[in-house]
Amino acid sequence: MDYKNLIKQATRARERAIAPYSHFAVGAALLTSAGKIYTGCNIESSSYSLTICAERLALFKALSEGEKNFDAIAIATSAAGFCPPCGACRQVLWDFAQDITVVLVSASEATQIKRLSDFFPHAFDDGFLTHA
Ligand code: THU
Repeated sequence: MDYKNLIKQATRARERAIAPYSHFAVGAALLTSAGKIYTGCNIESSSYSLTICAERLALFKALSEGEKNFDAIAIATSAAGFCPPCGACRQVLWDFAQDITVVLVSASEATQIKRLSDFFPHAFDDGFLTHA
């Protein structure tokens, strides 16, 4: 699978990051199984904890448009090396996209292809909620 366009979209989304406090820019591009791409960037609040990560914004945009099946997410950060998704994003991605392909993109646009389970082994999910 060629993730060239997904990587480009994540890199473009990173340019739209609103990160005046951390100065750490993140862009994400989420690929649906039907081939559509939803992007997100991190948006920071002056009340820091209200910040939304790029990955969850892309995912929530897609979910809010009725998307249910996902194949891959590219994550472009302003870090020199490869920067994995945060714990909160790992959990939410697992809940809605299971073990998708994760393409990490560094500031120099080097890429690394992984799966979500590489970052998030022994995941908790709704399979444990026996009463649900
Ligand atoms: N950030 C993301 O957007 N995604 C991640 O997976 C890691 C962290 C953002 C949140 C905050 O705006 C900045 O990066 C520094 O933590």
